Amino acid sequence: MKITLLASEGAPYAKSGGLGDVMEALPAALARIPGNQVNLILPYYKKIKENDRYPTELVAQFQVGLGWRRQYAGLMKLQGRTDGVTVYFIDNAYYFGARPGALYGDIDDGERFAFFSKACLDAMAIIGEIPDVIQCNDWQTALVPTFLAAQYRPMFPNTKVMFTIHNIEYQGWCNADFFDDVLELPWEYRTTLDMNGAVNLMKGAIETADLVTTVSKTYAKELMYPYYAHGLDSVIANAAWKLTGITNGIDVGTFNPETDPALPAHFNANSFISGKAACKAALQREVGLPEKPEVPLLVMVTRLAGHKGLDLLCYIARRLLWEQEVQLLILGTGEAQYENFFQGLQAEFPDKVAAKITFDLGLAARIYAGGDIYLMPSKSEPCGLSQMNAMRYGTVPVVHATGGLQDTVPPADDKGQQGLGFTFQSYNGDDFLGALVRCLTLYRNNPNGFHDLQHRGMCQDFSWDKPASAYMALFQQMLAQ
Ligand code: GLC
Repeated sequence: MKITLLASEGAPYAKSGGLGDVMEALPAALARIPGNQVNLILPYYKKIKENDRYPTELVAQFQVGLGWRRQYAGLMKLQGRTDGVTVYFIDNAYYFGARPGALYGDIDDGERFAFFSKACLDAMAIIGEIPDVIQCNDWQTALVPTFLAAQYRPMFPNTKVMFTIHNIEYQGWCNADFFDDVLELPWEYRTTLDMNGAVNLMKGAIETADLVTTVSKTYAKELMYPYYAHGLDSVIANAAWKLTGITNGIDVGTFNPETDPALPAHFNANSFISGKAACKAALQREVGLPEKPEVPLLVMVTRLAGHKGLDLLCYIARRLLWEQEVQLLILGTGEAQYENFFQGLQAEFPDKVAAKITFDLGLAARIYAGGDIYLMPSKSEPCGLSQMNAMRYGTVPVVHATGGLQDTVPPADDKGQQGLGFTFQSYNGDDFLGALVRCLTLYRNNPNGFHDLQHRGMCQDFSWDKPASAYMALFQQMLAQ
């Protein structure tokens, strides 16, 4: 099968969050399945262009029409990728080359990604790479099924499009005049894209894609409710017949405590007790916490964004730190209120708290390996990857039972003989603290039970093999439609 994946980010070239990880591992997992030919197209961001490790070859140049605009696009083919995935970048200096900051957040993001979506379709048509299936992701590539249905069908007579929602919170809202000014689609698509008098790119994709997926089974169900759907619940309800949840995997080749080059000591499911102890001591030294093997080290690697449940952690933090002999280590950047809070907390409890307000993949790996308990109280979590990283590295998760957290962390019993982590159902700080205290009780009073829990987490299959076959089954289903 010829499969082309389109996304606004993909590790290792460009990544701001989980989508970037998925776009590294999913194409590779699909390419491992015999008979597949897999392409991935990403924007040619400045930092990719300037990185010597990513040499490219120019394969096509063309103009993309966006309303009255005619914009240059260059199709660059990456050299040297060896896992069977062909990677292309769409080059345009104005939209992607000259923006030094974050990948998203510019005032003309709608236009930038309308350009990207259209350029991907033009590029495939021009080089004659007509896939059986296009898989596109989140609002940035949400226009692809709409453009295809409205304007590109003759070039892609049999191509089916899957749209995958990684987070419904970001929908691609644009002003009403965006429809005529940038998209210039036939008038009947006005209602497809209209939402409350504005243009909503994700809504268009949910309506026009052949199938819609999201990144866990539970999140697929949650999306039916206003609480989770951020205004799109009725759109989702109408599309329920074509919506499926496929829980993400993680890249078990990269995330492997036996080989991870970032770790000071290596271990596997049989040697984790001593291996993790060495990693914990080194981590405590690295982040400036007292080197105390017996004190439980609570860790969190996260974007400091509201939906990650930081308000709950802020709410319980002082009580936790006064009442319990624990250490708390947080790595991440994001909203100033949380950066300030955790820095303040570190100043208040220097022997108990380390706040590393930075983005550091090596330290993240050492935290997964050296931590005892991983906190993830997300308010909503489409899938979440770090709880799986944590379990693979023998760190026990304490999570809010929502979305992918519910699917990947079955609740443990108080002896550690069942489940994979401690969970709480209703989103409030006291319940979060309750789950954490149950986990701490097991840690202190029943080390063998705690080790059993760690061991079970490390033995789980979090690889992409199963999800990749689930994607294949849906691709087949679309092609048979
Ligand atoms: C988004 C979601 C996260 C998910 C990731 C990859 O970042 O917020 O839950 O794991 O996408 O699908």
